[in-house]
Amino acid sequence: MNFMKNQAHLQKFPNLGQDVTIWPMAKIVFPEVIFIGDSVIIDDFVFIMGGKMTRIGSFVHIASFTSITGGGKLIMEDFTTLSSGVRLFTGNDDYLGGSLTNSTVPYPYRKPMRSFVRIKKHAIVGANSVILPEVTIGEGVAIGANSLIKRDCEPWTIYAGSPAKPIRPRPKEKILELETQLCQEVYDTNGNYIPINQRKKLDET
Ligand SMILES: CC(C)(COP(=O)(O)OP(=O)(O)OC[C@H]1O[C@@H](n2cnc3c(N)ncnc32)[C@H](O)[C@@H]1OP(=O)(O)O)[C@@H](O)C(=O)NCCC(=O)NCCS
Repeated sequence: MNFMKNQAHLQKFPNLGQDVTIWPMAKIVFPEVIFIGDSVIIDDFVFIMGGKMTRIGSFVHIASFTSITGGGKLIMEDFTTLSSGVRLFTGNDDYLGGSLTNSTVPYPYRKPMRSFVRIKKHAIVGANSVILPEVTIGEGVAIGANSLIKRDCEPWTIYAGSPAKPIRPRPKEKILELETQLCQEVYDTNGNYIPINQRKKLDET
């Protein structure tokens, strides 16, 4: 899993955990403001603009063709997923007519809003979804493919559609139980992450 780990292109990331795979055709701008936990995969053709700050937890996957832009702050907690083609914006132009728009226009003619997106533990965002700024996607949320997220999503709920609406609860007991079991395998008694090549194989225990 961590076969890309020692590649030179990872050296530009000062805040990197263990067992992190960033495929070489991912494009990441401002890596100095990006914090990445342990056991993370960022696929080829992902585009991330660090913005004010980007914090990616542990056991996170960002799949191909996803983009993260907008210049604000992003927090992806542990066990979160952005499927392929997600468009996540942490900031926005003024669409309602208060200023000129787009990156070519200087301040004060343009007044972009720099905001945040927070994705809480165990949330998964389906392919080609769009996440607009200033939303919190609650713990355990699943978002259907091709959805538009414009408002906060309540924990442990499945959402879908444009704009996304809740379609049913997402049971949490099994996911939390599996997390507990996995964490016993991958963290030592002091809570330190055990890299893959130092772990006992699951079938040896
Ligand atoms: C949201 C999702 C998980 C729901 O799965 P499900 O429980 O099998 O859903 P159902 O097919 O029973 O649909 C339930 C209702 O939601 C609607 N719905 C389901 N997915 C939808 C979507 N992505 N967008 C809009 N509506 C959706 C269905 O049309 C149905 O509506 P109805 O009750 O009016 O007929 C699934 O449809 C989905 O989008 N998964 C994302 C998969 C993905 O992106 N994978 C990428 C690789 S990880």
